[in-house]
Amino acid sequence: MLTSLTAILSVFAAASVAAQGGSGIANCAREYVVQPGDFCDKISAAQNVSTFQLAEVNKATIDPLCDNLFPGETICLGVTGQDCQDIHVVASGDFCASIAAAANIDISLLLTNNPNVNSDCSNIGLGEVLCTANVTIPYTPSTAA
Ligand SMILES: *[C@@H]1O[C@H](CO)[C@@H](O)[C@H](O)[C@H]1NC(C)=O
Ligand SMILES: *[C@@H]1O[C@H](CO)[C@@H](O)[C@H](O)[C@H]1NC(C)=O
Repeated sequence: MLTSLTAILSVFAAASVAAQGGSGIANCAREYVVQPGDFCDKISAAQNVSTFQLAEVNKATIDPLCDNLFPGETICLGVTGQDCQDIHVVASGDFCASIAAAANIDISLLLTNNPNVNSDCSNIGLGEVLCTANVTIPYTPSTAA
């Protein structure tokens, strides 16, 4: 009796893991397995995900400095309905106005979709990946303190 109950419960547990996928993030639209030599902005640039989105989606597991990634770890690149896949990798000489112009969007939309960028765009760095979508990505406001 007890063993069959345990067996039933483990079937449910397995089903719930399968629904969430390897990243453990509900409604993950795209998962990615970390490779040796990866770092967050390298993954972002190669997989079409912004620096902000990668950090926000994985904030439960990836620390703010992104120094705790490990090969074989499954992370989530984007959640269904909140998944920006249009990106620009910041290069030398870039500034928000030029990035927005190249993407044919307003600077205000660029700032809306990249909440990590400050209002005067003075804190973007080389290799950072920005979302250049031409629609507002409806990111769920962070409830983290
Ligand atoms: C990233 O986006 C570019 C441009 O749309 C596309 O060519 C490329 O296949 C995408 N890469 C991935 C991994 O989705
Ligand atoms: C918005 O971007 C998509 C590609 O991401 C493109 O197909 C579409 O034409 C763009 N719409 C406008 C109004 O620029």
